Amino acid sequence: MAATRPSEGAALLAEARAAFRREFGSEPALAVSAPGRVNLIGEHTDYNAGLVLPMALELWTVLVGMPRSDGHISLLTTSEHADEPKRVEFSVPTAEKPLEPGLPRWANYMKGVIQHYPAAGPLPGFNAVVTSSVPLGGGLSSSASLEVATYTFLQQLCPDSGAAISRAMVCQQAEHSFAGVPCGIMDQLISLFGQKDHALLIDCRSLEIHPVPLSDPGIAVLITNSNVKHSLGSSQYPIRRQQCESAAKALGKKSLRDVDMKDLEIGKELLTNLEYLRARHVVSEIQRTSEAAAALSSSNYLVFGRLMVESHNSLRDDFEVSCPELDQLVMLALSVPGVYGSRMTGGGFGGCTVTLLEADVATRVMQHIQEQYKGTATFYLSKAADGAKVQPL
Ligand code: GLA
Repeated sequence: MAATRPSEGAALLAEARAAFRREFGSEPALAVSAPGRVNLIGEHTDYNAGLVLPMALELWTVLVGMPRSDGHISLLTTSEHADEPKRVEFSVPTAEKPLEPGLPRWANYMKGVIQHYPAAGPLPGFNAVVTSSVPLGGGLSSSASLEVATYTFLQQLCPDSGAAISRAMVCQQAEHSFAGVPCGIMDQLISLFGQKDHALLIDCRSLEIHPVPLSDPGIAVLITNSNVKHSLGSSQYPIRRQQCESAAKALGKKSLRDVDMKDLEIGKELLTNLEYLRARHVVSEIQRTSEAAAALSSSNYLVFGRLMVESHNSLRDDFEVSCPELDQLVMLALSVPGVYGSRMTGGGFGGCTVTLLEADVATRVMQHIQEQYKGTATFYLSKAADGAKVQPL
């Protein structure tokens, strides 16, 4: 039993090119890729102007395509999206006729980016094929990687105006307005700016990015997909966000980033019990993320691992976004010697756990989980990868 090896980028590109030839009858002229991500620590802190520590994965969304001169956009996906059609066609948006979200749902992320793209000139139509090795809906940012791949593709057709950092905001806006998910900024930032062999400590208030080396061959990052997605997730995310905002407001602060543990205890009476618990998670998680980045910088994996476990417990008990499957995966990983830490990662209510461990115990951990987990787990062993790229054809 081996971990699913992340698809090689080259194989993914070849698959997209072949699909493009079949569908559109010519070779594509352009290709781009954007990675999925795993967040090592700093969960549900990005929309509280806090700190996050994600790394880009060796799992990618690839887009190949070719401009066309009739103002139409034709998109094909090679992924399975339930009962949805794999092909969709629409016109380049104009001021009179903007794009709107609709069916198929997978295309909304792309439409949103096209609609919000700050083109420095007229945007031509195009044909494109999208293919991805990021598991869909698995909490590894398949959506952000599709948005960022689309943005990077559009840049090849017509340059964008504005600062590099604002690319992440356009992609985030696409997700807010076309997919209806009020996400933070972490996923788009890491997919754009990820660095090989580094995690990125991102300050979601100043948007400063500090690379933290993560290339020690003695350690590994194991991602375990629970392969469950509880329907609660999508409805609870905006509720958590709102609870955090109302907690900050009640404490007289702009965001929970401006609150420390002392403020929280002093202001406890001003909060409902739920607001207090949500805020306690966020305030402590920001502190943990700062400590974890320092621990990683000095290769102190024991401390890093302890902070991961504290993060998981806080997400489970105070923020209440874990689920029995994720809790079981964390517990199983932690029971194997050589594991430093493990936690749920991403929005929660299913999706993946992330585990930091000695590289040579990875097989044992996977075996143990496979034998004991009540569901079916899928594994990814990934190094930290670069962010979005133009791919030579
Ligand atoms: C989702 C969102 C991110 C972030 C995480 C939780 O992945 O897209 O912006 O809020 O949840 O940390």
